[in-house]
Amino acid sequence: MTEGRKLTGRDWSIRYVMGRPSWDLGGPHPELVARLTEDPTLGGEARGTRAFVPGCGLGHDAEALAEAGWAVTAVDYAAELEPLVKGRFGPVGCRFVAEDALTFDDPEPYELLFDHTFFCAIHPEDRPVFGEMARRLVGKGGRVCSIVFPLGKQLAAGGPPWGITPEDLEAALGSDFEKVDDQPVALCGHPSWSERWAVFARL
Ligand SMILES: C[S@@+](CC[C@H](N)C(=O)[O-])C[C@H]1O[C@@H](n2cnc3c(N)ncnc32)[C@H](O)[C@@H]1O
Repeated sequence: MTEGRKLTGRDWSIRYVMGRPSWDLGGPHPELVARLTEDPTLGGEARGTRAFVPGCGLGHDAEALAEAGWAVTAVDYAAELEPLVKGRFGPVGCRFVAEDALTFDDPEPYELLFDHTFFCAIHPEDRPVFGEMARRLVGKGGRVCSIVFPLGKQLAAGGPPWGITPEDLEAALGSDFEKVDDQPVALCGHPSWSERWAVFARL
């Protein structure tokens, strides 16, 4: 899917209605699964704290976070996803909202924004809006955790997925966030491109 233009919720919905899309891993990203068990700040200590998953798609990561104890709000503007995620989200108490994640607002701050193939799915022109979204939703001391993918893809090659780097995220998030982790993933989810795990703390 490399169209180069800005996509709408309807554009993405069509992909889901046609069957399992190419980007869907069929389960949570393996790096997230490992970290949920190995990192107490993502696993046990997170019980009951609030996580926001923009562009959740079929919701495997959101479901895994909810199973690990996070109170998850998963947002995707492909409205046709609702019946596809409902059966899995209900039992783990994960909330699905069919809205534009970039303009989504919530009076209560989130401790975690988890990005996996959302930052690379939005048009590069909208990256500053991603930063505004993170500043609005993530409370002080909270984190943005991102599976940074696809690394090494040139913007000129089009998207989505648009090529991204940890530095692109850092630029979008601005001086209200500080990068606290940035390393290659140990467990790759998308073998066609390299991926990194990057974490930014809200100052
Ligand atoms: C490449 S898919 C990734 C889905 C999921 N994160 C995953 O890893 O399987 C990108 C998702 O972001 C959603 N999306 C793109 N722009 C969005 C926006 N502005 N607001 C909400 N959802 C958006 C699309 O509908 C799509 O489900």
